[in-house]
Amino acid sequence: MERNTFITLIFSAVFSLSACVPHQYHFVNMHLTWTEAQRYCRENYTDLATINNKNDIEELLKSVNDDQVQYVWIGLQKTISYKWKWSLGDPAFYTGNDSQYRNWAQGQPNGDDDCSNMNPGQWNDYECNNSLPFMCYRDSSKEYIAVNQPMTWRAAQNHCREFYTDLVSVRNQTENQQIEKIRNDAHITSAVWIGLFRDSWEWSDQSNSSFRNWRTGVPDNDGGNENCAVVWVNTDRGQWGDVTCSFKYPFVCHEDKLVLIKQNLSWPEALKYCRENHVDLVSVHSEQIQRRVMNVVQKASTAEVWLGLHHYCAMNMWIWLRGEVVCYQNWAAGHGTGVDCRDGPRVGAVQSGGDHRWVSLPQTHKLNFICTNYGFPLFSRNNFPGHF
Ligand SMILES: *[C@@H]1O[C@H](CO)[C@@H](O)[C@H](O)[C@H]1NC(C)=O
Ligand SMILES: *[C@@H]1O[C@H](CO)[C@@H](O)[C@H](O)[C@H]1NC(C)=O
Ligand SMILES: *[C@@H]1O[C@H](CO)[C@@H](O)[C@H](O)[C@H]1NC(C)=O
Repeated sequence: MERNTFITLIFSAVFSLSACVPHQYHFVNMHLTWTEAQRYCRENYTDLATINNKNDIEELLKSVNDDQVQYVWIGLQKTISYKWKWSLGDPAFYTGNDSQYRNWAQGQPNGDDDCSNMNPGQWNDYECNNSLPFMCYRDSSKEYIAVNQPMTWRAAQNHCREFYTDLVSVRNQTENQQIEKIRNDAHITSAVWIGLFRDSWEWSDQSNSSFRNWRTGVPDNDGGNENCAVVWVNTDRGQWGDVTCSFKYPFVCHEDKLVLIKQNLSWPEALKYCRENHVDLVSVHSEQIQRRVMNVVQKASTAEVWLGLHHYCAMNMWIWLRGEVVCYQNWAAGHGTGVDCRDGPRVGAVQSGGDHRWVSLPQTHKLNFICTNYGFPLFSRNNFPGHF
């Protein structure tokens, strides 16, 4: 009993740490062009690094373990396709299509301007170097803050990121009205900057992250050929620059932790596949991991998707692959209890649609499955010396 409690405690410690690390970054200390680096990352990991937010930058910087390095390639590259996107660029902030909500005034956007304002309620494109008051958003309190100090769009973005979370995103009409009301209550009579901007940069892995963290004054396309992005590691640590893609720099790859495999295999075959090609079938120890599973399973071609969950008849309990007790649970009604062991081994899957609940199935069903690339450090990590 005591031992179980202890194990549970250790697991919650490990998983609350890992849940905050959406990308696993790998620094590669070889000097390659951007395209060569992209190929290397795709062959050895998932792709060149994608960055969703400030935490990702910190994690990426931590992976760079050579203090001679000035900058590293990331997966951002300029294209010819300009699109409007939000400064608060983390895809996790949006659901469904609500990153695409727009409330342009009639005839807008109508120019070459790459920033946008709200005046009143309706949006207009506007030259980024103009100065306007602006609206920030604080994610911890879900609050909008009117700042009645005219600044350029970039200065406003810096201000919001320093004191709050970011410039406001507007995901639907209700939010648009709420923001307009805050502006009005603050007696701001002019237009205000919102977080909507336009650029033509895209991530190598097709991620929708519109988070950008450029140094002051860039991207400036100095010399006319700066189509790839680096993160500065020493000076201006964590800020981004635009650079010529054929230069040779070290780089950072990222590895998706959860990978949906769209093959139809039995549970034992799926387990074998994951252990040979990744690390293991996924274990869903927490709501955070369940949420990431929910993102991944939407693209599955089968109605259920295997998890690393199996029923242990001798003790009549469900356990994860490495013997962990199932604490966090998300069973569909009628599943997870009352297993009759005479019917053959039962294993667990998650529904790819609906509420994404877990179901108990015979292991011979042929389903898609989710492998994890995350090597659970529990039994090797020296954070927990001597206990096992
Ligand atoms: C607007 O978006 C927010 C955030 O996704 C959501 O909580 C809210 O329910 C939405 N409101 C409407 C009316 O769609
Ligand atoms: C990016 O967003 C578009 C439009 O909302 C969506 O169709 C697409 O699946 C998204 N891509 C990823 C990788 O999530
Ligand atoms: C897997 O099964 C689903 C549902 O039966 C089917 O639609 C899909 O084409 C199958 N995929 C493969 C790779 O056989």
